[in-house]
Amino acid sequence: MNHFLDIHKTDPTELRSMIDQASVMKQARLDRPKAAPDDDQPLAGRMVALIFEKPSTRTRVSFDVGVRQMGGQSMVLSGSDMQLGHGETIADTARVLSRYVDMIMIRTFDETVLMEMAEYASVPVINGLTDRTHPCQIMADIQTYEEHRGSIKGKKVVWTGDGNNVCASFLHAAGQFGFDLTFTGPSQLDPEDEFIGLARNAGSKIVIERDAQKAVEGADLVVADTWVSMHDSQSSKERRHNMLRGYQVNAELMSHAKPDALFMHCLPAHREEEVTSEVMDGPQSVIFDEAENRLHAQKAVMRWCLGV
Ligand code: CP
Ligand code: NVA
Repeated sequence: MNHFLDIHKTDPTELRSMIDQASVMKQARLDRPKAAPDDDQPLAGRMVALIFEKPSTRTRVSFDVGVRQMGGQSMVLSGSDMQLGHGETIADTARVLSRYVDMIMIRTFDETVLMEMAEYASVPVINGLTDRTHPCQIMADIQTYEEHRGSIKGKKVVWTGDGNNVCASFLHAAGQFGFDLTFTGPSQLDPEDEFIGLARNAGSKIVIERDAQKAVEGADLVVADTWVSMHDSQSSKERRHNMLRGYQVNAELMSHAKPDALFMHCLPAHREEEVTSEVMDGPQSVIFDEAENRLHAQKAVMRWCLGV
């Protein structure tokens, strides 16, 4: 059994096999109704708990549908409705859940909750987003980039705005998949040194460039995310918007990237804030392919976790 906690903790060869398997599984489902079962039923007889301590549309629906397509069953649990939110320890919750279910996906705030869940669960645990990282998103993003443009190895990815949890997983992926990443945003919102260091140690070129226009020159992929994440206080909204306004992805900024550069956003997006509708709905945008690929990539992640 394997936990899927972060991209840098998983062997690059295994990450590559998951992306390849996700693409094969996607092809096999073309034109099938969404609830039609996959031909093989790798999760037959398996029960999966999906725990959410934060809101979710994509993660929740894609995991639930993915489990069902593979023949398993899932239950969606809200952290606040569980005893977890009322003083039961994470370790005890992990031990108890392991007696009922075959795998746990958790979306939480502090990553220590995820790590403790993984330490005490005797079944695989998957990171469905923490304040620090979002690995499942980036697996879908790699699959999406490669579907459109071939191998991501050696490409230039530009992250705009807040050096947040999704940016951190992109940095993890840079090291594991061999691409370069330029961060452009205000210094107060730089990604953590730990993430930058890991990517550089793995051989990726990581650049910090305050000037957004210079940053996107030669970009193969431009990425944006919300300026206020779920773990950020609402009272910081105005301050963050003021810091980030100069980093909006719009048609003018995209014109400085390579002509065939793609645009990605994990969604949910705030139109006309971090990105304009013109870019989101334009020909370079692959945002809904990313959303779809959450389903396929996570199905491959779940199979790897269970070894099926
Ligand atoms: N991208 C993503 O994780 O979306 P949700 O918050 O809707 O799950
Ligand atoms: N950075 C965002 C990603 C949402 C999928 C957040 O954490 O709210």
